[in-house]
Amino acid sequence: LQFTDDDPEHAEDIPKYAEDGWPQVEAFQARHDDLLIATYPKSGTTWLSEILDMIYHDGDVEKCRRDAIFNRVPFLEMNSRGHIPLSSPPAGIELLEKTPSPRLVKTHLPVQLLPASFQEKGCKVIYMARNAKDVVISYYYFYQMAKIHPDPGTLAEFLEAFMNGKVAYGSWYEHVRGWWEKRQEKQLLYLFYEDMKKDPQREVQKILQFLGKEVSEETVARILHHTSFQEMKKNPAANYETMPSSLMDHSLSPFMRKGISGDWKNHFTVAQNERFDRHYQQHMAGSDLCFQMEV
Ligand code: A3P
Repeated sequence: LQFTDDDPEHAEDIPKYAEDGWPQVEAFQARHDDLLIATYPKSGTTWLSEILDMIYHDGDVEKCRRDAIFNRVPFLEMNSRGHIPLSSPPAGIELLEKTPSPRLVKTHLPVQLLPASFQEKGCKVIYMARNAKDVVISYYYFYQMAKIHPDPGTLAEFLEAFMNGKVAYGSWYEHVRGWWEKRQEKQLLYLFYEDMKKDPQREVQKILQFLGKEVSEETVARILHHTSFQEMKKNPAANYETMPSSLMDHSLSPFMRKGISGDWKNHFTVAQNERFDRHYQQHMAGSDLCFQMEV
């Protein structure tokens, strides 16, 4: 999932893994009632996916436990012919074609690479962002356990790669800003991991309002319980334990690792933090997009 920089037009934009699968992703035919879940990696994608799947199943826990999250919410740009071996998990598009409407679709693509049909069909999008410092720490552990990635090296090396956008899906700064700037144009709800941590009930209500759905208080309570970190951590249908260990090695780091805000404080040195802050200010200058660094 590395980004290539040998394409003069789209330097650092085109995902390398998609070399043979990209035309199919680009030509993907969204349906008008698709709901797109868009995130930069490690920003709470799986959490949001589980919440939405629960909403779509009216809080029926059993239905949501029946299958793994990567089958229930297919990953648009997951390519069976690239780095991912055929059959596990299935390629996103093949899965999506078989999925009955209304579908939930997951993507990590930056907004400028989103297949045009999502906009043409007027699909709703929920974007979730998480503060950069927690993302980079979560990503560092994920690089170690998810075998599609190369060895991340030391944390110091990985921080440099992250700041320079030389990680899978490229620059976090461009990703969060790109989607933020589009939120007026599209049917887009922009959420924050930190808000979801602080008040999940309020955020779930926001989602329900955005979707125009009404559910009982009891159902909301069931959704909140089922999607709490503790419940998701022990739920194999949500925590990627059913993924082959050749793809994700949970003994190196569990997918459901800590699920908190502010864990970066346990990892950054003072010097790393100062350097990161300077770089951050330069790259977020002029944007009204603000993050909480801990809750
Ligand atoms: P940490 O590594 O900081 O623990 P993604 O699904 O986008 O890959 O994001 C994974 C991150 O979201 C991990 O962060 C994971 O623990 C966290 N996460 C997953 N489910 C969560 C939940 N229910 N509550 C809080 N955090 C959750």
